[in-house]
Amino acid sequence: MTDPATDPTRVLVLNGPNLGRLGRRQPEIYGHTTHAQLADHLVETGRGLGLEVEVRQTDSEAQMIAWLHEAADGSVPVVLNPAAWSHYNIAIADAVAQIDAVVVEVHLSNIAKRESFRHHSVVSAYVTGTIAGLGPGGYDLALAHIAASL
Ligand code: DQA
Repeated sequence: MTDPATDPTRVLVLNGPNLGRLGRRQPEIYGHTTHAQLADHLVETGRGLGLEVEVRQTDSEAQMIAWLHEAADGSVPVVLNPAAWSHYNIAIADAVAQIDAVVVEVHLSNIAKRESFRHHSVVSAYVTGTIAGLGPGGYDLALAHIAASL
């Protein structure tokens, strides 16, 4: 049994396709921080906020949906970067819609300032809020919001 007074709240940070290549992937857009560095940093940020952060990345839609179901079943807050799925994947949006805990959508880049196909996210209608364009710092802000909302 968990004791909310002593056990840190679990938070899932879920990153979608191609984000495993951070640091090598178009660094002029996504920066030089690798996914491993981002993950280590967010675990540290979470620790400072009293959160137990677990960072996962997948290129598999089925895997991402399973993780979103896990969050829905456990009422686990989520920081989600759906990456390209944001722009067309209704199955991911449907899975997010089942989560009653806080879900913050994060995009490293400012999707509103890029190609028009990136301007709309089908996931956004089902999340608590969205942060875009602030680089890795967007994830820190999302975690701070989750910590403050508990
Ligand atoms: C992204 C923006 C998406 O348009 C893109 O497909 C990504 C990353 C971002 O973090 O800026 O893969 O979600």
